[in-house]
Parts: sequence; C-alpha cells; structure tokens
Amino acid sequence: MGCGKWSSLFPSSKILNYLKYTAAVFILLYVLLVQKLNFLLHEKKNNPIFNGDYVLNNDTICYDQEKITAVVIVHTSSDHFVQRQSIRNTYGSMALYLPVQIRIVFLLGRVSSKELQNEILSEHDKYGDIIQGNFIDAYHNLTYKAVMGLHWVSHYCPQAKYVVKLDDDLIFDMWRFIKMFDARDLYVSKTIYCYVRDRGIVPREGKWKVPDHLFKEYTYYPFAHCIGFTVIYSGDIIPHLYEASFKIPLFWLDDVYVTGLLRLAVGGIQLIQQTQPNNLEPSKNGMRCLEEKDEDCTYLAVGVAENNINSTWSAVKRRNHII
Ligand SMILES: *[C@@H]1O[C@H](CO)[C@@H](O)[C@H](O)[C@H]1NC(C)=O
Ligand SMILES: *[C@@H]1O[C@H](CO)[C@@H](O)[C@H](O)[C@H]1NC(C)=O
Ligand SMILES: *[C@@H]1O[C@H](CO)[C@@H](O)[C@H](O)[C@H]1NC(C)=O
Repeated sequence: MGCGKWSSLFPSSKILNYLKYTAAVFILLYVLLVQKLNFLLHEKKNNPIFNGDYVLNNDTICYDQEKITAVVIVHTSSDHFVQRQSIRNTYGSMALYLPVQIRIVFLLGRVSSKELQNEILSEHDKYGDIIQGNFIDAYHNLTYKAVMGLHWVSHYCPQAKYVVKLDDDLIFDMWRFIKMFDARDLYVSKTIYCYVRDRGIVPREGKWKVPDHLFKEYTYYPFAHCIGFTVIYSGDIIPHLYEASFKIPLFWLDDVYVTGLLRLAVGGIQLIQQTQPNNLEPSKNGMRCLEEKDEDCTYLAVGVAENNINSTWSAVKRRNHII
C-alpha cells in the first residue's frame, strides 16, 4: 500500500531519469575538475629558469649503478673543447677510480653558430658526456646552467652520494676527495662544503657587477654563499634546491643564487667552510703548495691554465702515489 503511494509520487521511470541526469552532471563536473587540476599541476611544474629542455642529453650515464660516489658537473663554455679534453685526459677519466664509481658531465648552453654546434655534436657522439640546455650560453646566463645541473642530477643521477660542481679551469684531486669524504664514511646529509664567503660585498662594478636595483640597500649580501670554483654538495639536497628554483627569481651570479638564495629557501642546509684540511680556495698558489708540501698540501682543487695542466696533473698523481 505504502509502496503504491510512493511510486505514485515518484514514478520509477522518473527516478531513473533523475538519477541518470544527476550522474551525467557529476561525471561531467568530475572530468572538468580533473582536467583543471592537471592543468594547475602542470602549470606549477613549469620551472621559469630551466624546465628540462635539453638540446643534448645522455640519460643513461648513471643508470647502470646503484651506488655512485660522486657525479662531477663541470660548468664549461660551449667553445671550450680544449679544456674539456684536458679534463677527460686527466682527473676526468673515471676508470682511474674504480671500483669507486665516479661520473662526469659537462654543462653547456646553446650556441648560434651551426659549425660550432656540429663540433659539439660530434664531441657528444664520441664521449656521450655533453649536457646542453636550450638557453644561450653566455656569461650572464650562468644561473641557467646551474639550475640545469640541479635538474639533471635530480632526474638522471639522483643516487649520487656527492655532487661536485667544478669550473673547467682546474685540476681536481679525486683521490684525495675519495680519501677525505668517502673512505672515512663521513657522509653528512644536508651539507655543502666550499670556500664560504660570509656576507661578501655586493659588487656594483667589474666582472661580477650586480644591477643597482637588486640588493638595493645592501653593501654586503645578507647571507653567506660559496665561491663557485669548487663546491661539494651532499646529494640529498639537490632535488630540494631544484624545487626551490621554481619560486626564487633568477639572480645571475650562480653561486650566490644556488648556495645563498636557494639554500636559504630550502632551509636546514649547513655550509661547511673548507680552509683546513680540504682547501677549496681558488688560489693561484696551488701548484706551489703541491710542489712544496706534496701530501701535506691540503688543496683538493688547483686552478690551472693550458700551459700547466700537465705539470699540475703530474704533481697530483705523484702525491697520491699513482705512476
Ligand atoms: C651515455 O653515457 C654512457 C656511459 O658513459 C655511454 O656508454 C653511452 O654511450 C652514452 N650514450 C649516448 C647517447 O651518448
Ligand atoms: C640567456 O638565455 C636566455 C634564454 O635562452 C635568453 O633569453 C637571454 O638572452 C640569455 N642572456 C644572455 C646574456 O645571452
Ligand atoms: C699535455 O699532455 C698531453 C697528453 O700527454 C699532450 O697531448 C699535450 O700536448 C700536453 N700539453 C702540454 C701543454 O704540454
């Protein structure tokens, strides 16, 4: 009886139609919402400085090893073929350190000359160690290169225990690095080792000139940063530094940007000053230090020019008893 009453109020076909209609509306809303969310997520994933746009890449450099002690990322100008070859012939020869797994890549930007690009292409075909980003390779674009390095390590070499950032005009003593950092098992997470400049002067002229509107009221940077010559990162912080580059606007001096601004944005990263015993100071006296003090010379990296690469490399090998 009661049933009849209900069914006369809502005839079953009407209920069915109503349900169908409601379901259709909900499905439509759901689809729209998912699309919108995807769009928003996607939008958030666009890094304004470097978003994974590579001209040349090698995504298999690290993939065959679970444990990689260090990946070395060398900042190099696109036309520095000679410097890159010197590095491959000296400390960049990864076989020297086996069974310790070291990887090395060179970070380049885009070039306008087709000839130059063809040379870079054949270099990459031969060695497979060129990582080239789709931004103009220019001195004032160093931060693009640095953020590309953070992106590359985060995506293609996340297992590296340490990330060693080097300029292309130095000899790095990898044996000593392995002894100091790896063999003693001193790994500390959330750490950057470098020559620290605490509240360095904001340069208003010269090679490292900062535009007047940036750090406007400051004579000194209100934070510490590394001198970029040689910087050693514990690998765990690299993805966090990359994430921070989504929100921190570009600042052209890459060492100030990465080891100052991005480091502060991530938070909880310690900077460890390397004076003694792992001197990372860009000193012109590096060669003299090696010659005079040999094993007691505390330098991990020594600046070189083309005419003293071989002698510096010999001195580094000698003090590590490598024939
Ligand atoms: C990438 O690097 C690996 C390891 O060095 C090498 O074997 C491979 O040939 C390289 N691949 C390309 C496409 O260059
Ligand atoms: C740096 O690269 C960007 C992206 O390619 C470009 O728009 C800009 O002009 C470059 N800056 C210099 C100084 O070349
Ligand atoms: C350094 O050594 C390499 C390889 O042994 C050699 O090809 C190169 O000419 C040397 N460079 C100088 C400046 O002597």
